[in-house]
Amino acid sequence: MPDLFPQDLERWHIFESKLSEVFYSFDIHEIRTPLLEPTELFARSVGNSSDIINKELYSFLDRNKDSISLRPEGSASIIRAIIQKKQEHEKHKLWYQGPMFRYERPQKGRFRQFHQVGVEYLGFEEGVAEYELISMVLQINKSIGISDYTIKINHLGDAKAKESFCKSLVSFLSPHIEKLHEKDQARLKSNPLRVLDSKEQSTQELLQSGPKFQDFISNESKNFLQNLVNTYSNHCNILIDQTLVRGLDYYTGVVFEAVSKGLGAQDAFLGGGRYDKLSNQLGGKDMHAIGFAIGIERIVELLNIKNIKSPKKVGFIVTAKQADQKTYKIADDLRSTNKTIILDTFLNDGSLKSQLRRANKNNCTHVIIIGEEELKNNQMIWKDLSEVGKQELLSSKEVIEKYINF
Ligand code: HAM
Repeated sequence: MPDLFPQDLERWHIFESKLSEVFYSFDIHEIRTPLLEPTELFARSVGNSSDIINKELYSFLDRNKDSISLRPEGSASIIRAIIQKKQEHEKHKLWYQGPMFRYERPQKGRFRQFHQVGVEYLGFEEGVAEYELISMVLQINKSIGISDYTIKINHLGDAKAKESFCKSLVSFLSPHIEKLHEKDQARLKSNPLRVLDSKEQSTQELLQSGPKFQDFISNESKNFLQNLVNTYSNHCNILIDQTLVRGLDYYTGVVFEAVSKGLGAQDAFLGGGRYDKLSNQLGGKDMHAIGFAIGIERIVELLNIKNIKSPKKVGFIVTAKQADQKTYKIADDLRSTNKTIILDTFLNDGSLKSQLRRANKNNCTHVIIIGEEELKNNQMIWKDLSEVGKQELLSSKEVIEKYINF
C-alpha cells in the first residue's frame, strides 16, 4: 500500500483536472459511497467463485460480529445505494473515485490499495450507452495524450448464453484436465470462464480448438459488437477478443478493457462492461447498467506530460525584514487578480540567493523581489529567470498589471 508524495501526485492532479472537463461535458455526476460494506454485498455481486472473493477480500468482524469488507471495487456499492434509495426506475449517469482494496500479490502496477475512477450509466439498455462509454474512454485518453493503447472488446450474450458457453467449455476441457496447469485445473473447477484468461501457453493452445463465445450469442449481439468495432476502428486500435470474460461474475453483454504495452505485465488500465442482472441479484428491481473503471496508478504511468501545458509559476521573494503584514497583503492581491498563476512564496526564509535558487528548483519562470528599499518606495523587482540580468523595477500598480496579463 504505497504512500503518495507531492511529486507522485502531480500526474494525478493533471489527470483529475482533465478528467473533470470530460465528465463535465458528458453531464455526469459524482456519487460517494463508503469504503466499508457488508461482505455479503461483494459475495452476491462480484461472485463467490471469483478470485476477488476467494482470496483477495479484506474482511473482518466488527464489534457486532457482522462481517464487513473493504470495497474491492465500486459498482456493487453504487447499485446497493440506488436500490436503497429506491431509484432503480430512474436514469443515472454517475462517476466516483477513491481507494479500492484487494489482497493480491503486489508487483509493478498491482497494489493492495489502489485507486479507481469509475463511471456507471444506469437505466440505459444495450445500444447508445455502449457507444457513449467507448467515446468517453477515447476522449479521456486523448485529453491526457495517451495514444498507444488497444481496446479489447467482447460480447458475453445474456445470462443463458453465458451459462451454455460455460457448460460447453467445461465439457471440452474436462477430458484434457491433465494437460492444464495446476492453476487452470483449479479455475476449471471453481470458475471455468477464467481459464480463458490463462497466461499458460499450453492452455491457450488447447483453447484454440475449444468452443467460441461467438457461437453462443445471438446474431443481433454479434452484429452489435461488430458495428461498435467498425465505428471506432478509425479512431483507435479496437479488436474483438473472444477470450475476454473479465474477472467479476456480474457481467453479461458487452465487456471491454483498455491495455497498453507500456505498462508491462499488468497492462490493463481500464475495464468495464454491462451488468444488467446485478440490481435483481441484489434484491432490487430490474435496472440496466453499464460502466467502466480506470486504475489511476496505471493510467498516470501512461500520461504524456510533454504535451500538457504546465501552469505558469512566479516566485515571491521577500528579503525585507519585518515586512510580513504588508507583503502578505501584496501576495493576497496578486493571487486574487489572476488565479491561473501559481504564486510560490518562500516565506521570507533565507537570503536573496537561496530564495532564487529555490525559485529555479521549483520551476518558476519569473520572480517578484521585495527588499527593504522596494518596500519603502512601494516598488517591486520583476525578474525573468530565463534570461540572466533581465529585470525591471516597477511600481506595485505596474506589477499587478503585469500579473493580470501574464
Ligand atoms: P476491474 O477490471 O477489476 O473492474 O478494475 C478496473 C481497473 O482497476 C483495472 O483495469 C486496473 O487498471 C485497476 N486495478 C484493478 N486491480 C488493481 C490492483 N490490484 N492494483 C492496481 N490497479 C488495479 C472493476 O473493478 C469494475 N468495477 C469496473 C466496472 C465498472 N465495470 C462496470 N462498471
